[in-house]
Parts: sequence; structure tokens; C-alpha cells
Amino acid sequence: MTLQKGLDIYSIRNQFPILAREVKGKPLVYLDNAATSQKPTVVIDALTEYYAGFNANIHRGIHTLAEEATAAFEATRETARQFIGASSTEEIIFTRGTTEGINLVASSWGRANLKPGDEIIISTLEHHSNIVPWQMIAAEKGALLKVVPVTDEGEFIYEAFEHLLSAKTKFVSLVHASNALGVINPVKKVIDAAHAVGALVLIDGAQSSVHLDINVQELDCDFFAFSGHKVYGPTGVGILFGKRAVLEAMNPYQGGGEMIREVSFSGTTFNDLPYKFEAGTPNIADVIALKAAFDFITGLGKAAIAQHEHTLLTYASSQLKEIPGLRIIGDVENKVSVISFILDGIHPQDIGILLDNQGIAVRTGHHCTQPLMHRLGISGTSRASFAVYNTIEEIDALVIGLFKVKKMLS
Ligand SMILES: Cc1ncc(COP(=O)(O)O)c(C=O)c1O
Repeated sequence: MTLQKGLDIYSIRNQFPILAREVKGKPLVYLDNAATSQKPTVVIDALTEYYAGFNANIHRGIHTLAEEATAAFEATRETARQFIGASSTEEIIFTRGTTEGINLVASSWGRANLKPGDEIIISTLEHHSNIVPWQMIAAEKGALLKVVPVTDEGEFIYEAFEHLLSAKTKFVSLVHASNALGVINPVKKVIDAAHAVGALVLIDGAQSSVHLDINVQELDCDFFAFSGHKVYGPTGVGILFGKRAVLEAMNPYQGGGEMIREVSFSGTTFNDLPYKFEAGTPNIADVIALKAAFDFITGLGKAAIAQHEHTLLTYASSQLKEIPGLRIIGDVENKVSVISFILDGIHPQDIGILLDNQGIAVRTGHHCTQPLMHRLGISGTSRASFAVYNTIEEIDALVIGLFKVKKMLS
């Protein structure tokens, strides 16, 4: 394949030990990156180094190990701040992932601020984790959930959003890039319009954070949530950015150690940001290793990664369209490197199983976006999603694999 200027994909692949394995006797072709990305050696090593070298609980200890662990933990916060362009580390809260970030905001902000008749706007493209927490808090507070429709290609209809927006709108929670289709939403326009009516905005960055340059100050979003495991980092850790003034006005999400300043039986005062939102012993090892993932991405350069992924996306789209009976869902210009497709008369699950027999990992089903699938009139799709280590040869393998699937099942 053509190597992108500045990126040697083969040497990048060598940094991911799992890519050397075989599945069903065939070389692994991993095209399920939107579900979770693989981990480079630097991330895996960071986990081992922490457990083997300076495992200790953080913040309260005065011994050497505790100090080393605290320093490494807080170093990730600073790197995360830079990664998304936040102005201060007080605005960076460690969570378990995107899901926990959204739940934190829905319950903490929502419980204190929503009242009967208030409206929350989401879109048809949302992952279940950006639907259900809002349904729960809306039901609790008597608020209403409004949903922005999409076109037949899954594009957010901005005019419909403007139509839904009113003085009743208190919160807008929107996915940046759809995990099911890859389409990118016009988040900046949405944020500005929502602010004009006094509403706050959360951006679900689970899929965008790995592909797009993120600057939360330029976006001017009030919250931005994403997961470590989709940015080449470990599972079980994520970041919630919140604007300092908004976070300061919010109540803690959970009570416990670490988030307090003073506890007595007559009452408790809470710790400063960001610790107010980090009750209990956090996921120290995975937070520490997440720094290695951010450094890995920054070291390669997001622009160079995006260019490579764009080449893969363009090539894959054109090749897949050569397969008779294959339809790409969400075939739009402005998208991240995710391709969802259906094959006439063949169930996505059968496609997934038969590709797996050839060593090719794709995701099939509703992708935790059942309302979107319902809107598009399908039960699910097959989805190939690309990361920096994928190659043109792997796309060729997918296309050959799909021709075989067709031959077997038609
Ligand atoms: C767009 C989107 N939002 C939210 C999530 C939830 O992320 P997590 O399961 O890491 O909390 C995902 C995961 O697939 C996603 O793709």
C-alpha cells in the first residue's frame, strides 16, 4: 500500500502485539475499532510498570510509592487537558467512560436544574448511553425529551433542531460522530444556537475523540465525554470535561472518600474540583496508562492519522460499492472512518460469523442505536471501522471475504 507521508503503517502495526495473532488460522484483520481500539505496547507496558514498580493508592499517602503514583495519575489529567484543549485540569474528571460521564451530568446537573415542562434535546443518531440517562432524569423531573430527526442517510436535520429549540430547552446532548454510521454532526452550530436560548450542551465524543482534533474551548461546549478504550487506551477509564463554572455549581455525583473536605455527623463539605466528582479509589492503573495512549496519538499527529484513515475510508467505500447488492448506510461526505452496510437478503449476523471464519472482525447488529435503526427501517448493519494501523490490504481482504459470503449464501 501507499505509505502516508510521515506515517509508516507497518512500523505502527508492530507496536500492537495483538495484530500479529491469527484467528481461525488466518491473520487477524481487525475492523471493529469503533467498538474498541487495540492497544499499543506503550499502553500495555504502562500498566505493568505501575503494578510492578509503584502500585499505591493516590493523593493521601506521604510515602514514595504514593507520591509516584499520584504524580503519574495527575500527569494523565494534564495530558488529557491538552488533548482536548481545556483551559484547566480542574475541568478534567476521570470517569469509567463516556457512559458514566453522561450519567454523571444527567443525574447531577439534571436533578438540580430540571423542572416539569423543561425540555432536553437529543438526536435520532444517539447511542443508547446518550438516550437512556436523559429518559431517566426526564421521567424523574417531569421534563420532556425532544429528538432531532435525521435524513434517510442518517444526517442530522439542522432546521428541525432549530425548530425544536426554544426557551423551554434547558439541555442539548448530542453525539459528535455517530458510532453506527460515522456521520459527523454540526456540533459547533448546535452549541452556539443552544447557548443563544440559554441551554447547556454536552457533546458525546466517544467516536470523535480518536479521529478529530478536539478543542473544547473553541467548540465552547459545556461538557465533553469520551472513553479511553476507543483512543488506544485501556478499558474502564474515560474523561468528562466540564466548564469550571458549571461544574462548580453542580452537586457531587457520588459520595465517599476523596470527594470531601470535612466530614462530621452534622454535615459534610465537598472537595474542590475535580476531586468533588471522583469519589473513592479511582482506576489508578488505567488512568496512568491512558497517558501513554494520548502520547501515542499526539506523537503520530492527529492530522496524519486522519489523512490515513480518510484514504482507507475512501478506498473501502469505493470497493464495497462494487459488490452487487451491497448498500452503504450513511454514505455522506462528512464522516469518520466507519462504514455501515447491508447486503441484500443476507442477515448481518451471518456476515459477521462468516467473516470471522476468515479472520476478519467486524461488528454486526444495532450498534446500541436501536431508535436510529428503527428510523432507517433496518434491524441492523454490518460495520467496518478503521484505525491508524489498518491497511489497504485489509480492506481488500474484507471485500474478498464479502464476495465469499455472498457466494456461500446466495
Ligand atoms: C457514540 C458513542 N457514545 C457512547 C458510547 C459508550 O461508550 P462506553 O461504553 O465506553 O461508555 C459509545 C460506545 O460505543 C459510542 O460509540
